[in-house]
Amino acid sequence: MPRQLAVLSLAAVFVLTACTHEETPPPAPAPEDITAARAAADALGAQLKARLLSAIETGGPVAAIDVCKLEAPEIAAGLSGETGLRVGRTALRWRNPANAPDDYERTAMETFLAEIDAGADPAALELAEIVTGAQGRQLRYMKPIMTGGPCVLCHGTDISNEVKAAILERYPDDQATGFAPGDFRGAFTITKDLEK
Ligand code: HEC
Repeated sequence: MPRQLAVLSLAAVFVLTACTHEETPPPAPAPEDITAARAAADALGAQLKARLLSAIETGGPVAAIDVCKLEAPEIAAGLSGETGLRVGRTALRWRNPANAPDDYERTAMETFLAEIDAGADPAALELAEIVTGAQGRQLRYMKPIMTGGPCVLCHGTDISNEVKAAILERYPDDQATGFAPGDFRGAFTITKDLEK
């Protein structure tokens, strides 16, 4: 194609695409909101892990179940109070039905899982978006939680009968077993209500 013609047709493509993009894309979340959400997710993970490991060490896994049951929601509520964000955990296969995902969270976790299956580094994955729905305008932030070595005591494939019984007594609908170290376990989920 003569050079002039090539330039002309390129220009035509630009004009066409410009005209077909009338819808404005959703606004990107503010960088400081993403930083705050990421910090809240990291803090929840670190505080839970520290508390869990010391509880296992002092009282064993059965005693640690009650630490998870009572303290995990308290730690999340404390961080929510401190940060003004709603901070929590969710999973595709959950233990506590109160942690069951909403539609947004389920889709996000299915995407994380597919990306991890395709070879993505879970530590590098996160999702931050502004979503407008029935709750108004919200920042939604999610980050994967992976299964580690100590997690399989209570979420693995080979759980002791004592631990299994203690879990089922407290969580009769438990779906959160059968995980191996390195498996995708769930996600931190942070929500912030935004001004209209
Ligand atoms: C001592 C047993 C125990 C160990 C060890 C344990 N968990 Fe849990 N996990 C629980 C209990 C009990 C709950 C339900 C907490 C609640 O009621 O909110 C839970 C809930 C969760 C949830 C929230 C979603 C859901 O299923 O309700 C995630 C995510 C999770 N655990 C991940 C982990 C990871 C990752 C590790 C390892 C770092 C781990 N757990 C280690 C007992 C344990």
